[in-house]
Amino acid sequence: MTRASALLVGFVTRTASGRARAQAILGPHGYPSLASLVRLRPRLYLLTVPDQALREVAEELGGLLGDVPQEEASPPFVAHTSGATSVTVLAPCEEAGAQTLVLHPLQTFPDPRMGADRFRGVAMAVTPGSDGPDSPAARFGFDLARTLGARPFFLPDDKRTLYHAAATLACNYFVTIEHEAERLFHQAGLPQDEALEMFLPLVKTTLENIFTQGTVRALTGPLSRGDLETVRAHLSALETEAPQTVPLYRALGLATLDILRLRGELDEKTISALAELLGASGPQRGKQPRPRRAT
Ligand SMILES: NC(=O)c1ccc[n+]([C@@H]2O[C@H](COP(=O)([O-])OP(=O)(O)OC[C@H]3O[C@@H](n4cnc5c(N)ncnc54)[C@H](OP(=O)(O)O)[C@@H]3O)[C@@H](O)[C@H]2O)c1
Repeated sequence: MTRASALLVGFVTRTASGRARAQAILGPHGYPSLASLVRLRPRLYLLTVPDQALREVAEELGGLLGDVPQEEASPPFVAHTSGATSVTVLAPCEEAGAQTLVLHPLQTFPDPRMGADRFRGVAMAVTPGSDGPDSPAARFGFDLARTLGARPFFLPDDKRTLYHAAATLACNYFVTIEHEAERLFHQAGLPQDEALEMFLPLVKTTLENIFTQGTVRALTGPLSRGDLETVRAHLSALETEAPQTVPLYRALGLATLDILRLRGELDEKTISALAELLGASGPQRGKQPRPRRAT
C-alpha cells in the first residue's frame, strides 16, 4: 500500500508487534483503537484481517459508525480483501450507513513488505455490497484499484467462492504440486538442497509456455502423446516407492484428459484407455516398466 500511503489516515492493530510491523511499512500512522480512528471520519476503512476475524471486526466497526455522525452526502466506504468471504459479512457497517465492497487482488502476498509492487498489473475483483457494477461502491473500488496500478473487474457475490476455489488451485495447490515433485526428485537421488534449483527451469519454462500458448497447447509429456506404457510405469514406480502420491497422480492425470479432448489429437479409444488406467485402483500389473524418457 506504499503507493496509496499518501492517502492513509491511519491504521489500527491489536498487538504492539503488529503495530511495529505495520509502522515499518506505512509510517507512524498507528491509532490505539478503532474508535479513535472512526472519530477522524476517513473515507475508506480497509479490513485486512484474517477471514475468520472479519465478522467480529465488522460488527465492532458497524457499532462505532452508528455512534459517530457520518456525512450523509458521502458516507464512508468499508471494504475487506478476502477472496472467499461474502460482502454480506460487512452488513453491520452497511446498516450503520457505510457503503461496502470487497477488493480482492488476484495475487499472493507471503510477506507484507512485498505488497506494494505486487499490485501493478494485477487483476482485482470488485464486489459491491449492494447494487451492481454501476454502484458508487463499485466505482470507488475500480478507482482505488487503478490508483494502485491494478486491473479491476466486477465479480458478483454469488461467484466469490467458486472464484476463490479457482485461485486456490492456481496458486496454493500449484505450490503443493511443486512440493510433492521436490520430495520425489529427492527420493530419486537429487540432492535435497539442490533439487528445487535443478527443476525450477522446467517449472519456469512451463509457466512461460502456459502464458504464451495457453493451458491446452502448453501440455507436453506422456499424456499428451497418449503414451499408456509410460503412465503405467509411473503408477507402478509410485505404488512401490511413493504410494501416498498415487491418488494425486491419478486425480491430476484424470483432470488432464479434458486437455487431451480439447486438443483433439488423440483418438477417443486412447483417451478412454488412459481414463481406465488412471481411474483403476490397486497396483498396476502386467507390463514391465520401460526405461524413463525425458519429458
Ligand atoms: N496474504 C495473501 O496473499 C492474500 C491475498 C489476497 C487476499 N488476502 C486477504 O487479505 C486479508 C488479510 O490476509 P493476511 O494474509 O494479511 O492475514 P494475516 O497476515 O494472517 O493477518 C493480518 C493481520 O490481522 C491481524 N489479526 C489477526 N487476527 C485478528 C483478529 N482475530 N482480529 C483482528 N485482527 C486480527 C494481525 O495483526 P495484529 O495482531 O497486530 O492486529 C495480522 O497481522 C484476508 O482476508 C485474506 O483473505 C490475502
